[in-house]
Amino acid sequence: MPGSLILAIESSCDETSAAVVRDGNQVLSNVVASQLIHSSYGGVVPELAAREHLRAIVPVVREALQRAGVTCADLAAIAVTEGPGLAGALLVGIGFAKSLALGASLPLIAVNHLEGHIHAVLMQNSFPEGTSPLLALVVSGGHTHLYLATGTPHPAGLAWSYRNVGKTLDDAAGEAYDKVAKLLGLPYPGGPWMDALAVHGEADDKLFPLARIKTKITGRTAPKLARETAAALDQARFDMSFSGLKTAVRHYVEQHQMQSAIQRREHALRSMDLHRAKPEAANIARALPHFDALTLNLIASFQSTAVGNLARAAFAAAEHYGARGVLVSGGVAANSHLRKTFLGEAQRAGLPIAFPEVALSTDNAAMIAAAAWPKLLAGEFAPDTLEPAPQLRLG
Ligand code: KG4
Ligand code: ZN
Repeated sequence: MPGSLILAIESSCDETSAAVVRDGNQVLSNVVASQLIHSSYGGVVPELAAREHLRAIVPVVREALQRAGVTCADLAAIAVTEGPGLAGALLVGIGFAKSLALGASLPLIAVNHLEGHIHAVLMQNSFPEGTSPLLALVVSGGHTHLYLATGTPHPAGLAWSYRNVGKTLDDAAGEAYDKVAKLLGLPYPGGPWMDALAVHGEADDKLFPLARIKTKITGRTAPKLARETAAALDQARFDMSFSGLKTAVRHYVEQHQMQSAIQRREHALRSMDLHRAKPEAANIARALPHFDALTLNLIASFQSTAVGNLARAAFAAAEHYGARGVLVSGGVAANSHLRKTFLGEAQRAGLPIAFPEVALSTDNAAMIAAAAWPKLLAGEFAPDTLEPAPQLRLG
């Protein structure tokens, strides 16, 4: 089926996105409308997200088709995110995709958002051919999951299957980043701000030691594990936790009486109109004089522990399961310290490693089209009754 075009729609959280992708890996367009409204609330408000998707879906899809220079008549299929995500948000994308597919007599393909994140990397073909199994870390504001992805030869490339081998027991890593950022009076989403500010501080690994968080993991899961199988025991070894780290940061802020400085800084950022800004170099330069060394060191230390926790779990799992390569995807994969740390660890372990380009690491529809491609080839289509699956799992 050469030259087949998929139009994909993604609306699981706070990005309305549509993309046209040829043959699963040539991105003709990838339009992403980010919902700015949530920044005033310091987090995604589900009802507002659904309403904003409703507003954006028609123009976003139209623009994706226009930029690709195609019409519905040129398409081979419509793909849409089935889950996991916010029910109301998913419903907008699914409802729209279903009617478009029906109206244009096109098959509909349902895609797991997490598989989409993995395909954001696979679509760029960065591993030597046939590298499998891969250890995949999907790390974003909603997910922190480890998968063993196994590719089996298929006439049109590799068909992938997944096994979940680890996850966060509480907060997602991106969520911890955002919550700590909020605690420190940074704009939402705070992850990219923390990343940009951390380089101006010095990490002290004694501030938030990994050992304390690890103890908590063992403590929480041990009684449950006693009743479970060896396989479950294996898996739990690669579980992660971020809420203890977040609490440790809160205690540190209280102990060092940083609250009034945080309020002053919040006020200063607002008066410079930076409270909704992105952490571009010019914005960081303006904001930096309002940060003291204590705060910058705290940010660097938090980041060091958070990334250390991810790297420990990912590379221990890669070794345990004999992975031949490592891939990292999801919003937090954009983090510069994470990339540096994972590159170093991969080199030490002698494993190839791949990250998506930054535009493909956060939520987007091109990755949904990429994950839909093998399903199109296999004729795996969704029924007319497709509904949102907010709790959908992978593996
Ligand atoms: O994949 P994504 O766009 O949406 C979800 O599925 O959650 O990820 C967004 C998350 C947010 O928590 C954001 O703060 C985090 O990814 N993030 C980062 C960075 N860029 C985005 N966290 C740390 N460092 C970054 N550079
Ligand atoms: Zn995502």
